Formats: sequence, structure tokens, C-alpha cells
Amino acid sequence: MEQTFIMIKPDGVQRGLVGEIISRFEKKGFSLKGLKLMSVERPFAEKHYEELSSKPFFEGLVDYIISGPVAAMVWEGKNVVATGRKIIGATKPSESDPGTIRGDFAVEVGRNVIHGSDSVENAKKEIALWFPDGTVNWQSSLHSWIYE
Ligand code: TYD
Ligand code: MG
Repeated sequence: MEQTFIMIKPDGVQRGLVGEIISRFEKKGFSLKGLKLMSVERPFAEKHYEELSSKPFFEGLVDYIISGPVAAMVWEGKNVVATGRKIIGATKPSESDPGTIRGDFAVEVGRNVIHGSDSVENAKKEIALWFPDGTVNWQSSLHSWIYE
């Protein structure tokens, strides 16, 4: 089954949005397979965002990600990568629809609360980076009520 990497950024943790965000993924029907609160150091944040290293906002982005603890998660489910991006909403909160996490809780792109993998391939890379010891292998007893 497909997995994605979701990270609640330091602003989301500080603002007490961890429970709300987990709840949205749970209620959708996705399964939580990995969860940890952690603070990351600069080289780790740079590695996570390495594809953006030439962007003008890169340094500010890294400063933001290392400014406090983040909640790192692995969620599993059918089409969870693309659907997770929809639940999160557009990168710029001014363009994210109401009902999405960024549309409901963020104002500024540099404080947009949450990260989600943008492809299955990147999800695999990010899960390997953030969960080097692996995740938890379990199946919800509700599986047959969510999947046909
Ligand atoms: P990106 O991967 O383009 O967006 P997303 O998080 O939706 O996959 O960019 C990573 C993060 O970089 C984004 O969540 C917030 C930050 N960022 C800026 O600060 N300014 C910008 O103009 C962009 C495009 C991103
Ligand atoms: Mg991205």
C-alpha cells in the first residue's frame, strides 16, 4: 500500500495543530504508520529540502524548519501521496482552498504549517531519511470498512 511522508512544521506544533491535523488524516481513512516529535539540525533540514537549495527562500526555509520541534509522520492508504497533498492544500496559503489545512490555518507561504511528499518516489526518499529505523507494520481492524 502507498505511503507518504507528512511533517507538521514548527509553527503547526507551536500553534497546537498536531491533533487537528492527525485527526483529518485519520478521519479520511488513512493509517498512521510512523509518528515522532523531533528537532532537526541544519544539515538534516538542508538534506530534506535539497532540491530547493538554489531557491532564494532556501535559507529562510531551513531557518524555519529548525526553529522548533516538528512532528514527522508516515501515513498509508490508497493514493495517499496525491490525496495527502489535496488535504494539505496549495503551497501558498493565499491560493489554498478553505477546507484544506493550509487554507484553514495558514496565511503566509513561509509559515504554511505542514509538509507532504509530492510524489511516490519522493515519499520513499523522505520516509527513508526521517525514519531510518523503519515504521510500524500494522493494519487497522476497520480496513474492510474503508476499502472494497
Ligand atoms: P515546495 O516544495 O515548492 O512546496 P510544498 O511544501 O507545497 O511542496 O516548497 C517547499 C516549502 O518552501 C514550502 O512549503 C514553503 C517554502 N516556500 C517559500 O517559503 N517560498 C516560496 O516562494 C515557495 C515556493 C516555497
Ligand atoms: Mg515540496
